[in-house]
Amino acid sequence: MFQINDNYQKLPGSYLFSTIAKKVAAFSEANPDKNIIRLGIGDVTQPLAPAIIEAMHKAVDEMADAKTFRGYAPDLGYEFLRKAISDNDYKARGCDIEADEIFVSDGAKSDSGNIQEIFSTENRIAVCDPVYPVYVDSNVMAGRTGTYDPATEMWSNVIYMPCTRENNFVPEFPKETPDMIYLCLPNNPTGTTITKAQLQEWVDYANKVGAVIIYDGAYEAYISEDNVAHSIYECEGAKTCAIELKSFSKNAGFTGVRLGYTVVPKELKCGDVSLHSMWARRHGTKFNGAPYIIQRAGEAVYSDAGKAQLKEQIAYYMKNASTIKSGLQEAGFEVYGGVNAPYIWLKTPDQMTSWEFFDYLLEKANVVGTPGSGFGPSGEGYFRLTAFGSYENTVAALERIKAL
Ligand code: MLT
Repeated sequence: MFQINDNYQKLPGSYLFSTIAKKVAAFSEANPDKNIIRLGIGDVTQPLAPAIIEAMHKAVDEMADAKTFRGYAPDLGYEFLRKAISDNDYKARGCDIEADEIFVSDGAKSDSGNIQEIFSTENRIAVCDPVYPVYVDSNVMAGRTGTYDPATEMWSNVIYMPCTRENNFVPEFPKETPDMIYLCLPNNPTGTTITKAQLQEWVDYANKVGAVIIYDGAYEAYISEDNVAHSIYECEGAKTCAIELKSFSKNAGFTGVRLGYTVVPKELKCGDVSLHSMWARRHGTKFNGAPYIIQRAGEAVYSDAGKAQLKEQIAYYMKNASTIKSGLQEAGFEVYGGVNAPYIWLKTPDQMTSWEFFDYLLEKANVVGTPGSGFGPSGEGYFRLTAFGSYENTVAALERIKAL
């Protein structure tokens, strides 16, 4: 008789955003006349930039001609895209990351879930609390997290680094020594970030204790302050302790297109074993390459026209962020984030729990957000709104919230 991977049975409930989608669908069915504004999941709403669409059309035409048709993509990514990434995201910032240290994928969600596979199940992970649920859930599936305590909503073998208003949502070095440290900066869900000097301290710490940092830079394009690093490789010593995950979803609107990449520096080793070789082996075995059309779209992100158009798109979303932030402040809410990230993190009013506020906002204002407790126990009493809606919907949502 076959057996299943029992670790899946340990997962409490369903994936956060699936639960929210189900709740919203039920509300919508019961209230078909209500115009619901969705500021929950961080999904973009603006169309792909013209330079990207043009590149995709051209690539589609190439696929229609036997002379330019492409079959399987190189499993680690086309050279044209890996070089564009290396030149623009790294060398232009003084980071010595070569094209062959970049592994193109179908998005950072897959990479952030998959990367743990190359590490021992004996490793202890450290995560921020609150945290993007994929990091913890994928480690639960691998059997790395111990047992779940429903009372504390914590796993026995996970090191939690609480990020609260008391520490400005900045994680502190844990008392116990972790083997793998997940950092998402600028942060999802709190919308806050740390300075380059603070990030350097994490790099120094990881090198000292022999930990690896899994650095999720999905929101890098939203950084507006000068003292914040755009890549962990801006920090000295990061190439011996850090893997960086990047996405095209938030900077270029690829949530439905799917493209991302992971950097595994050649210098990153465990004893004599190269993690670069391990990830290449894993990627080559389990992944057949992101589609040619999509990789050409990714290349267009780095063209002059693409860069100019995307700068406008980011500014559009960040205008939403400041509209949400100032609107909530006027309404008397305690608000964080929204300066270097497209997320606003607010304290729920009147001692409401995160889910109570979710229901209240959905029923009374027909606005969907994300309950902070869905990201971890320290998220209880907080709530996340995203700046990825249309400007009109964002303004309308704020009007409704102010009128409550
Ligand atoms: C979020 O809302 O936290 C993100 O959109 C989820 C994701 O990027 O997968």
